[in-house]
Amino acid sequence: MCGIIGYSGRRPAVPIILDGLRRLEYRGYDSAGVVVCGAERLLGEKERGRLDNLVRLLALRPLAATTGVGHTRWATHGPPSKENSHPHYSQDETFAVVHNGIIENFHDLRRGLERRGVRFRSQTDTEVIVHLIAQGYEGDLLEAFRRALEQLRGAYAVLLVSSRHPDEILAARHGSPLIVGVGEGENFLASDVPAILPYTRRAIYLKENRVARVTPAGVEVYDLAATARGRGARTSDGDGAGDGAARAARLERSSTTRVVTIDLDIKAAEKEGFDHFMVKEIHEQPRAIEETMRGRVRGGEVVFDDFPLSPARLRKFNRVSIIACGTAWHAGLVAKFAIEEFARMSVDAVISSEFRYANLVLGRRDLVIAVSQSGETADTLAGVREARRLGATVVTICNVVGSSIPRESNAVLYTHAGPEVAVASTKAYTTQMALLLLFALRLARARGAAPRDRVAAVLEQMRALPGMVRETIGNDRTIRQIAAKYHKVYNYLFVGRRYNYPTAFEGALKLKEISYIHAEGYQAGELKHGPIALVDGSFPTVAICVRSPVYEKMLSNIQEIKARGGLVLAVASKSDRRVSRLVDWLVRVPDTDECLSPILAVIPLQLLAYHVSVRRGLDPDRPRNLAKSVTVE
Ligand code: F6R
Repeated sequence: MCGIIGYSGRRPAVPIILDGLRRLEYRGYDSAGVVVCGAERLLGEKERGRLDNLVRLLALRPLAATTGVGHTRWATHGPPSKENSHPHYSQDETFAVVHNGIIENFHDLRRGLERRGVRFRSQTDTEVIVHLIAQGYEGDLLEAFRRALEQLRGAYAVLLVSSRHPDEILAARHGSPLIVGVGEGENFLASDVPAILPYTRRAIYLKENRVARVTPAGVEVYDLAATARGRGARTSDGDGAGDGAARAARLERSSTTRVVTIDLDIKAAEKEGFDHFMVKEIHEQPRAIEETMRGRVRGGEVVFDDFPLSPARLRKFNRVSIIACGTAWHAGLVAKFAIEEFARMSVDAVISSEFRYANLVLGRRDLVIAVSQSGETADTLAGVREARRLGATVVTICNVVGSSIPRESNAVLYTHAGPEVAVASTKAYTTQMALLLLFALRLARARGAAPRDRVAAVLEQMRALPGMVRETIGNDRTIRQIAAKYHKVYNYLFVGRRYNYPTAFEGALKLKEISYIHAEGYQAGELKHGPIALVDGSFPTVAICVRSPVYEKMLSNIQEIKARGGLVLAVASKSDRRVSRLVDWLVRVPDTDECLSPILAVIPLQLLAYHVSVRRGLDPDRPRNLAKSVTVE
């Protein structure tokens, strides 16, 4: 989830690009770069770290040109470093690209290019794009671009500049957002609206599989499939008349229905029109899960490219410990069930601050899985160091490439959720669960513990996850109503069983951290051992009662609460006909395998916490006393 921007006009490009990048920094901030079309050659700079580093560099070494592109990176392949920063150049430096997305088949493409003598300078997936373009170039930039794009699998929004075509930017979109800003004698490209708002409010939201050619004079839009048949093919983004250039002229001159006027202010646009980052990030979950799974499921199996632990090594472990804090620990609790179910290994999920001071019995046959969104949490980092000191192997599940915990681990798998801005974790949590489940299946296959068809069946359902998450978010209205009714309550109880008792823990944590309401998460079977004493008519219990082997037990627990006059808000499966007769409020989630159900069941709880917080007049993005990354003990 990087930020990209392009400018082609008559004004100096660099200040406009930097200004745009500043407005896109919430999309990524581990490095930044620009490239412009100079009089004879491409001129560029890039720098690791925040955008300010690049700004300082450009103040010392200004780049003069009126066409160029910029990028602010959120690493997916290769740690944040100058070499891995965008733009990436062809060997002769006549072509440069910036990219947002993930190229799934970059390993194969890279091997092919290397065989043809191409020397790579970075570890990124992006670099293959520019080399493919350079190799396919025979004088027609658009055609070389098309040929390169044809070979890519995955997701991309990519911008291309070339010193041989100094006034133009080519752009393509497939699976990652891209907009064209339409100005007077100047045009813009950006991954997101805020970047262009100070300059123009007229925009074309580039549709899937479209290519745009942007010059100071106009914008031509092509259908990627149609460009194969020739330039200037008709496209529904334009008005479809005449050749590309003619259409571009008209696009610039008139606001056809396809050129929309954006009426958001910059602050609202950063949040894509949502009121807060938290709710934006809740809505980003379908895409974040899709990105996390991208390229990791092939032929009914889980494939982790560049993963250093071979199946033989995975077979040698006899125990797993998962360490994490807060929400990440809840993901670890879910993973405990998945690893035990599929890989048939004994698993402990331990809070990092306890793990680091425990009398640990660990050795060479122990696998420790550290889970951390930020990769900087002090207790988890200390736990990783201690585990390694004792001879265990550490695999980290993390969202921030190149952060401290991955650097100190034996292996790392990244969730590709993109930056999480809101303090309360949402999309990091669901992507952690998805990735941990993939890891459980990989472990299971390596150890021969799960039949191929069972794994393939779960993976098949995982493919449907983004759609099911989207459908679950569709319950927002009902959840708003629940929040309207119960936002003044002082206490909440959340209960679940097996895979979904961590969901109860997470629901309680979300509510307390952003709405300051006391909430407790419990394993529903524990109710009778104490907490049921709390239940009365003013005390809501949120019950996770989706289809599972303990469904009947959950129904009994709900009945016990109702028998004591308690109020029950339930999360149940769509096909369920029994829970609805028992409870006061019901939110339905799609039916799925129990191991996937926590990913769906938590979403109504995230939304509940969010709407309660807003109702109480609080700022859900910045809860009191909390920091996004806990780098001290
Ligand atoms: C809760 C939340 C925290 C984090 C915890 C671990 O919404 O965000 O509980 O989950 O501080 O942080 P990471 O995952 O960065 O190690």
